[in-house]
Amino acid sequence: MKFFVDTADIAEIKDLTATGLLDGVTTNPSLVAKSLAEKGAGRDFRQLIKEICAIVDGPVSAEVAAVDVEGMLEEGRLLAKIAKNVAVKVPLTWDGLKACKALTGEGTMVNVTLCFSANQALLAAKAGATFVSPFVGRLDDIGLDGMELVREIRAIYDNYPDLSTEILAASIRTVNHVKQAALIGADVATVPAAILK
Ligand code: G3P
Repeated sequence: MKFFVDTADIAEIKDLTATGLLDGVTTNPSLVAKSLAEKGAGRDFRQLIKEICAIVDGPVSAEVAAVDVEGMLEEGRLLAKIAKNVAVKVPLTWDGLKACKALTGEGTMVNVTLCFSANQALLAAKAGATFVSPFVGRLDDIGLDGMELVREIRAIYDNYPDLSTEILAASIRTVNHVKQAALIGADVATVPAAILK
């Protein structure tokens, strides 16, 4: 299983890279805002992503803020130009699926995020997503079993070997989540630095 770290904190990313454990990074607007507020003098979103991409060889997810397909494509194309290892993160909405299809067709990695059901994950795979991100912790928060979603997606994708989308277990909150994701066979877990450590 690959480990991504779910942070935009440069110091954390450097520290984890030195261990050889890190296969990639995921960010979101909240994590980016936190990092820029803490250490951002002179930096902006694009510069921060560029810096992270230079530290890590693997995929670095950078999220669009737009909610319409045209806006997602405009932002996604700018993000994809930053570095070859940028994975554009789009929400699992109808417009997000269209943006996924278009960006994937242009050779850009796409992480389709905010996945809350197995059927949504099937749609993301059919739209050509590089990664689909089921939000385990957020489902646990509302009294559901987030890991059950990962299990269902694994079973569905395994039924159709032509689907190449990787399952990226996200909103991971505990070391037990990491173990369960590995037992189920998630391709990747994106984990907060503290949990990874
Ligand atoms: O990877 C998704 C993540 O950033 C959301 O995590 O813990 O805020 O649900 P959480």
